[in-house]
Amino acid sequence: MGSASVLSSVARRLEGKVALITGGATGIGQSTAKLFARHGARVVIADVQDDKGQALCAAIGPAAASYVHCDVTNESDVERAVDTAVSLHGKLDIMFNNAGRGDSAADRGFLNNGTTAAGFERVMAVNVTGVFLGTKHAARVMAPAGRGSIVTTASTASVIGGLAPPGYACSKHAVLGLMRTAAAELGKFGVRANCVSPHLVATPLTTGSFRESEEGVEKMAEVGANLKGVTLKAEDIAEAVLFLGSDESKYVSGINLLVDGGFTITKSL
Ligand SMILES: NC(=O)c1ccc[n+]([C@@H]2O[C@H](COP(=O)([O-])OP(=O)(O)OC[C@H]3O[C@@H](n4cnc5c(N)ncnc54)[C@H](O)[C@@H]3O)[C@@H](O)[C@H]2O)c1
Repeated sequence: MGSASVLSSVARRLEGKVALITGGATGIGQSTAKLFARHGARVVIADVQDDKGQALCAAIGPAAASYVHCDVTNESDVERAVDTAVSLHGKLDIMFNNAGRGDSAADRGFLNNGTTAAGFERVMAVNVTGVFLGTKHAARVMAPAGRGSIVTTASTASVIGGLAPPGYACSKHAVLGLMRTAAAELGKFGVRANCVSPHLVATPLTTGSFRESEEGVEKMAEVGANLKGVTLKAEDIAEAVLFLGSDESKYVSGINLLVDGGFTITKSL
């Protein structure tokens, strides 16, 4: 093998793989879709923001990216998204359960008529039921194939309190349970399940929640950061997902990969 072919096999870490990315139209999902495609994967982007999802596919290129409308709270949408990936490409290697939302502005805590039951359930529907459905339907096609990697976006709010209101914090703790249950049940079928847990990254979710510019969110993150001199970007989370989706992590299952510069260990008891 010449040095050029060695380099290209190292550079394309998902050659021939098929990935479904929920919440892929913007933010972390969008960065991951771009990175996966650069590494040779064919990606199916599933989201409710159809214009943004389709524009992203056009930018990546139709041979590598397709879009499917999918509300992750709706089981038939999730089922169709998984079936679309299989009918377009013959298989599903990587499921990235990434769609998520924050709490509404009024749903801020337990006291002072903060979080309503309806607000709590809205967050749980997307962040937990959506992950359950994505895992269930990915498992349906991955287990018979005897392989697959399911990655779910949790958060630093999955391991400590005080970072987010009850709905979001509870939803991110909950997906660790889903991930561990999936890793336990699906391991015997060759299917892995892991979480990736970002700390604060500037995306539409956080610029919207904090009513801040991208730079404003990055400044907030840097002020509270443990690791100084680095700005966490959506692309950095995509790199962690690339590792968990690729065969480089072929014996890694059941972990919560924190991408937080050590933030949570400094806050743990
Ligand atoms: N940005 C951060 O600081 C941060 C930190 C930790 C975890 N996360 C998590 O990362 C994930 C991605 O968020 P992001 O920060 O990139 O924000 P984002 O708003 O850019 O992306 C979320 C995507 O999910 C989609 N989505 C929302 N509801 C959906 C539904 N019902 N069905 C399908 N798609 C839906 C949105 O349209 C959007 O494209 C989320 O799970 C979020 O909780 C983000």
